Amino acid sequence: NNNEATPDKRSKDSENHTPATTATVHSLHGHEELNEQMRMIDLTEEDLDLLRMMKPIVEREINYITDQFYNTVLGVNKLESIILEHSSIERLKGTLKQHIIEIFDGKVDEQYIAKRLTIAKIHKKVGLEPKWYLSAFQNLQNVFITVMYNETYKDNERLKVVQTVTKLLNLEQQLVLE
Ligand code: HEM
Repeated sequence: NNNEATPDKRSKDSENHTPATTATVHSLHGHEELNEQMRMIDLTEEDLDLLRMMKPIVEREINYITDQFYNTVLGVNKLESIILEHSSIERLKGTLKQHIIEIFDGKVDEQYIAKRLTIAKIHKKVGLEPKWYLSAFQNLQNVFITVMYNETYKDNERLKVVQTVTKLLNLEQQLVLE
């Protein structure tokens, strides 16, 4: 059957930079705009599968990931003050660890959306400005990409994994900053 994408064909497609539209996009009932956002970043079920496969790596490296994050956040006086006033470093570290691991459950559902709205509200309440949230996020993304790079050996795997991770982190930012 010529219509079926063979592994060879697929790797050729990715060399030609055609979008990977092999799997259906997640479609959430009653969230038409979000579905469109996910389509726009080409988030597919395949990405969610890949995320679940990466979960053990993230669990293994979670201390490294969150330590890097906190070292840079605590280097900014303004941010350190917010944390000390409204929470504690240990508590927030625990929260972030759990949150990051959860992202790799690869589930984008009602609960996922609700949680991002809560995070947005809390950040607003503690006075965390979007520019700092985005800076912290970029830092997190840098660390993620380094970890994933070290765990993959083929160029096409690396590309795929990095694309998947950045898609999910981007979706997260879209929801938290809305
Ligand atoms: C709360 C994630 C950046 C300060 C939270 C929560 C999550 C979270 C999951 C808990 C929400 C809940 O209770 O349901 C993130 C992510 C960030 C980020 C993914 C960026 C990558 C920051 C930064 C600060 C910060 C840069 C620095 C001031 C706080 C504070 C709370 C909070 C003070 C309340 C914590 C508490 O109740 O103990 N954040 N956050 N966050 N975040 Fe962030």
